[in-house]
Amino acid sequence: MHCQERTFDIQPLAQADMTVHINGQAVIAAIGETVLSVIQSLGVRQIARNDHDQITGAYCGMGVCQCCLVKINGRHKRRACQTVVRDGMQIETQVNRITAQEVVV
Ligand code: FES
Repeated sequence: MHCQERTFDIQPLAQADMTVHINGQAVIAAIGETVLSVIQSLGVRQIARNDHDQITGAYCGMGVCQCCLVKINGRHKRRACQTVVRDGMQIETQVNRITAQEVVV
């Protein structure tokens, strides 16, 4: 399986413990990493889509601002900065079920 390259890590990943999928792309991850750190290791800064259909990036990194909400294993609005990765996790960025349901007239 081809994994997406982690080019924005501050230090290279010492050991790949698992594989997660971000927007359908396989990415290696380490035990204890947050979903946000894996997303940012790919250089992705625009993470969430809010209820006003605006794209946001992670701001606080500690679970307060709600600017990093992603879809994880089919569940919407999970905080990427507060969620520890699990093997096989399916993560989608820039999705919002409210804006997806709105009909443009
Ligand atoms: S970055 Fe603020 S809640 Fe996740």
